[in-house]
Amino acid sequence: VAELAACRLVDLAEAKPTVVVAGERELVLVRWRGDVYALRNVCPHMSTSFQRGAVVGRAGGRVGSPDVDDTDPVVVCPWHGYEFVLASGLCPTDDRLRVRTYSTAVRDGTVYVDLDPRPHPSVSRSGSSPGR
Ligand code: FES
Repeated sequence: VAELAACRLVDLAEAKPTVVVAGERELVLVRWRGDVYALRNVCPHMSTSFQRGAVVGRAGGRVGSPDVDDTDPVVVCPWHGYEFVLASGLCPTDDRLRVRTYSTAVRDGTVYVDLDPRPHPSVSRSGSSPGR
């Protein structure tokens, strides 16, 4: 396991994408409701940064529905508005767009990132994800 001390937890503002450099990779960390998420800081749409993106609860249900799931946050790319689920890196509206995600841990106020990327979850619509 290649674990990196990325930053202090106090340096992560709630719901604000924060860019850190980990070796040759640029990651974006997001603190949200007690969790810290780590994604590769490259939007798969046109290879841009999420740094100025908004982080919001994932909209639920129908388009235009006011329902929001605060337990399932997304980062909204500031360039063209595609959303990516922080936990999985998947784009809810386009299966072809995925961001690498990394496991994080907080110990003694320091945020650690496991630099081995997590496998993408299955996007199969017909069954459950493997490993569940
Ligand atoms: S570059 Fe991110 S949505 Fe277009």
